[in-house]
Amino acid sequence: MRDSRETFVNHAFVTGFPVRHSRSPLIHGYWLKELGIAGSYRAYEISPEGFPEFMRQLKSGASGLCGGNVTIPHKEAAFRLSDRPDELSAELGAANTLWLEGGELCATNTDGRGFVANLDERAKGWDRISTAVVLGAGGASRAVIQAVRDRGVKAIHVVNRTPERAQELADRFGAAVHAHPLGALPEVMSGAGLFVNTTSLGMDGEPAPEIDFSMMDEGAVVTDIVYVPLKTPLLRQAEDQGFAIVDGLGMLLHQAVPGFEKWFGRRPVVDETLRQIIIHDM
Ligand code: ATR
Repeated sequence: MRDSRETFVNHAFVTGFPVRHSRSPLIHGYWLKELGIAGSYRAYEISPEGFPEFMRQLKSGASGLCGGNVTIPHKEAAFRLSDRPDELSAELGAANTLWLEGGELCATNTDGRGFVANLDERAKGWDRISTAVVLGAGGASRAVIQAVRDRGVKAIHVVNRTPERAQELADRFGAAVHAHPLGALPEVMSGAGLFVNTTSLGMDGEPAPEIDFSMMDEGAVVTDIVYVPLKTPLLRQAEDQGFAIVDGLGMLLHQAVPGFEKWFGRRPVVDETLRQIIIHDM
């Protein structure tokens, strides 16, 4: 029986396969210390085969964990195996944040919230634009498109090497989203107020392809969800062409906020010290 004087301590997790590159333990560890909370946040490397059992133990309370983050390759399974996914995760078919509530395992996806919070902080007024260009059509692209659409951007042009994947997203997200092959990039840039790279283009040792940002609106913002290095080849090009750039590190930090609040009951702050801790770890 639990001693009524015992202090209840929450334990949270991040799981992925592999998980050793995850910066989430650093982020949540910093906030726990800053806020003086006697909780914990640990990484668990769980294979895809072992993930259903991990979820079962989480739901039953047997693992002693109150919730956590899931990353690649578990985001789709986390959504499917949760009891109460919210609308955001349901539309994406993927969850990155889980918590127990009233005996049920709840799920959401905070990637899109992290993306817009980063822009809100570093490119104030960005959402007055009417047209955005999103390069890439993978899981990260979905969360970005959903978030940008939900902030009222009227036209979102998704440009992808495999046009069929871009078309799938246009079909999923409705009238605001338009699909294009890579070759259409120069023409869709015309008049755009936001450019988002969600691919690893230029990061794999291959030289980054030249992108002409010059047809974008004056005052347009170029951002990348890749944050290693902080200034990616595409951001460097955009800056050289005179555009405002926003790196992707803030998205990583801000996507962690809602989970921390659920597990530990306090809303943490994304501050410069935390940013520097992650930069020094890169
Ligand atoms: P994530 O879930 O992290 O977004 P993903 O599903 O593997 O990752 O998607 C990666 C995206 O980067 C895709 O849009 C991919 O294009 P394809 O759909 O054609 O595969 C894009 N991508 C990756 N490497 C690329 C390259 N060298 N040139 C162009 N696009 C690339």
